Amino acid sequence: PVTKAAGGPLHGKHILITAGPTHEAIDPVRYIANRSSGKQGYAIAEALRDRGARVTLVSGPTSLTPPEGITTVPVQSALDMQAACTAALPADVAICVAAVADWRVAATESQKIKKQTGDLPVLELTENPDILKMLAQADLGRPELVVGFAAETENVAAHAQAKLKRKGCDWIVANDVTARDGESVMGGDHNQVTLLTPDGAEDWNRAPKEQVAARLADKIIEYFKKS
Ligand code: CTP
Ligand code: CA
Repeated sequence: PVTKAAGGPLHGKHILITAGPTHEAIDPVRYIANRSSGKQGYAIAEALRDRGARVTLVSGPTSLTPPEGITTVPVQSALDMQAACTAALPADVAICVAAVADWRVAATESQKIKKQTGDLPVLELTENPDILKMLAQADLGRPELVVGFAAETENVAAHAQAKLKRKGCDWIVANDVTARDGESVMGGDHNQVTLLTPDGAEDWNRAPKEQVAARLADKIIEYFKKS
């Protein structure tokens, strides 16, 4: 249910969220993508909306319904996502939850690539822009609080700490994407995260994605209370 949020603790804050995968076209029928359902990003968007924030959700292709009371901007590729994020600024907070494809095909074919006997197609890749890094290192109009996610399978805390530095963001939500009880994090309903902030690292218990979202939203409220 959508709570009437006028006057909520995040009233007056604009929060930009990226969610879902990106699709990088190979040709009109094929693409490169990452595994991501969008569930965690959408849950964060809803939790922040429920606390009074104005939310812009820049979403790659997912099977989820655009949430009520949120400006959802649907995009396909990383380049689209970057443009939509730039257009959505200024924002007080940016949270990059999207599983952005690290590479795209250098030259998308305008016609479907046909199978040829013998020859395998070779795809030349080029690197996509890093949207989190761009937001975190913006000279002008940097959101006050920039939060990234780091999906890791091992050495979660160490990898996430390195990522925080490299990206220049303020917080990192590191998630251990190792499957638990037969349920994968990617596409699953639960998440196990470590929150890294300048105050240190907090390990949160494995919980439904809605609960992780609520906890992160409450952390953001706390942050603005202190500042
Ligand atoms: N991210 C982004 N744009 C990209 C790649 C990543 O905005 N082109 C963001 C993700 O949304 C996430 C964070 O950066 O918040 C970390 O993404 P991740 O894939 O874990 O980091 P990478 O720097 O791409 O490192 P790697 O995939 O090699 O672990
Ligand atoms: Ca990546």
